[in-house]
Amino acid sequence: SHFKGTKHFLTLRDFTPVQILHLIRRSLELKQQITAERAGQALSPLAKGEIAPLASKTLGMIFSKKSTRTRVSAEAGWAYYGGSTMYLGKDDIQLSGGEALRDTSVVISSMVDCLLARVGEHEEVETLAQYSSVPVINALTAKYHPLQALADIMTLYELYLPDALSHKSSPSSTSLPLPLLPKLNIAWVGDGNNIIHSLLVTLPRLGANVSVATPKGYDCAPDVVEYAEEHATGGDERGEISFTRDPEVAVKDADVIVTDTWVSMGQEKEKAKRLAEFKGYQVTEAMAKGAKPDWKFMHCLPRKPEEVDDDVFYNPERSVVFQEAENRKYTVMAVYEMLMLWAKDAPVGK
Ligand code: CP
Ligand code: NVA
Repeated sequence: SHFKGTKHFLTLRDFTPVQILHLIRRSLELKQQITAERAGQALSPLAKGEIAPLASKTLGMIFSKKSTRTRVSAEAGWAYYGGSTMYLGKDDIQLSGGEALRDTSVVISSMVDCLLARVGEHEEVETLAQYSSVPVINALTAKYHPLQALADIMTLYELYLPDALSHKSSPSSTSLPLPLLPKLNIAWVGDGNNIIHSLLVTLPRLGANVSVATPKGYDCAPDVVEYAEEHATGGDERGEISFTRDPEVAVKDADVIVTDTWVSMGQEKEKAKRLAEFKGYQVTEAMAKGAKPDWKFMHCLPRKPEEVDDDVFYNPERSVVFQEAENRKYTVMAVYEMLMLWAKDAPVGK
């Protein structure tokens, strides 16, 4: 297995392009299967009486911050394999009363089979992983949101390589489970936050260009930029990256424009200052007039109107935001298979 020895899912920096593409391929397959089941055209493995690979397994879910997509996808995805989930919100466990992360991790991991955690600083999820006896999945930190990046990459494959699953043996991709992405221009306009960090450490390695516009004071983390630069420029099939303060420069010839909230969870006190300093960064048709005529819009959600207007956000010709959100389910399922089955060389249940 390409994943033998993989213990946790904390950031996509830890995964090679081949590994990432295995996860995307499996996510695309799961979407096909589950879409057919929901349309009544196929039976689920459980309905067919097959052994559920996670039956009697429990997923502990620590959430120190709110969530809609991550929670729903994580619970629905785990349930598909016959397992049960345990939601541990901020007000439910002793962690918020001051119990140490280390102790929390030792105790919870002694009783569950996998731990998914949405915490504050990235070091917190690293601490959980360090002391956990079971796999830990990062469900968002201030620095990275790898589950979101997987769903975004999956959505790019659906948009630009819709036949990717049937191109398995194309001669140019002999060692890859899917072809690399075409040289798309992906433009980020907004905060240098966890979402763009996760895109920067993946997309250039998969062949796409990334251009980033952030206001002064809201740059991406230097170590993330350094990593992306090292892995992006100079390579044959790799994408290029660039940085600017000017949204119109970033979106020039863009195939896709991506943004996110200007006020991430935990930054609520800075709201007024941020709204003022992000002036001019709202994604609109006017701002994007230099993009490719058929440019698409992406956003991890939840969305506020200040960063993208309704014309763009609700335009079905542009916006793929709800497709991205749905893809959160299939991608977290692929991560479960990786950590619980592939990494252990256990058989994948159909
Ligand atoms: N995109 C995302 O992670 O959304 P939630 O905060 O609703 O989980
Ligand atoms: N950048 C946002 C993403 C929410 C899914 C946050 O961290 O709050």
